Amino acid sequence: MDLVLREPTAGDAPAVGQILFTAFKAIAEQHGFPPDFPSAAVATGLLGGLLEHPGFYGVVAELDGRVVGSNFLDERSQITGLGPITVDPAVQNKSIGRRLMDHALARVREHHRPGVRLLQATYHNRSLCLYTKLGFDTRALLSNIQGPRLNLTVPGYDVRQATTDDVDACNALCVQVHGHDRHGELVDAVS
Ligand SMILES: CC(C)(COP(=O)(O)OP(=O)(O)OC[C@H]1O[C@@H](n2cnc3c(N)ncnc32)[C@H](O)[C@@H]1OP(=O)(O)O)[C@@H](O)C(=O)NCCC(=O)NCCS
Repeated sequence: MDLVLREPTAGDAPAVGQILFTAFKAIAEQHGFPPDFPSAAVATGLLGGLLEHPGFYGVVAELDGRVVGSNFLDERSQITGLGPITVDPAVQNKSIGRRLMDHALARVREHHRPGVRLLQATYHNRSLCLYTKLGFDTRALLSNIQGPRLNLTVPGYDVRQATTDDVDACNALCVQVHGHDRHGELVDAVS
């Protein structure tokens, strides 16, 4: 298998976006869940943003000259975020995912990052096995709750839109609760 890992270019977004959409859709539908992305165009749009953002690092896998997968690192804050990682369903379970993970984790080590985190869909046993073998520990369950907001108010606890003036206070709270900074993500989220 002639697999090459290389740096992505802006021109890779449509091919990588199509795989991102198809791979997540396939595993979600196998388990009776709705797809993570509504269309390949939305997945491609997300990837376009990651490819042009200086805070993200990407890697693309090419098999015999054809793009078959990708992986990304979010390096905006102290703790590196890993993902999305996707491999074309037609060539999954051939160790391409592991190669993309090894490449990303080597960079995390080279840059002496204090930690790396990722999220995975609990129903995807293969990705959980892969990450566990690579040394990830399961830390917490997240619930993805969808639907219209309830618009409830709790007296004394106002909820308002965040502004850039809130970033430092929000970051200090993150350090207090989780023990690490996330300034880069907060700045992007607010702006
Ligand atoms: C997750 C994903 C990137 C893995 O890519 P891949 O190329 O299929 O993965 P690999 O072949 O390198 O590794 C598969 C690993 O799955 C595990 N695995 C495979 N078949 C398995 C099975 N039947 N039972 C349990 N574990 C299994 C093994 O740990 C294997 O690692 P090994 O090669 O050391 O044995 C790919 O499945 C994907 O794109 N999935 C859809 C999107 C997604 O869920 N992304 C991750 C979001 S966090």
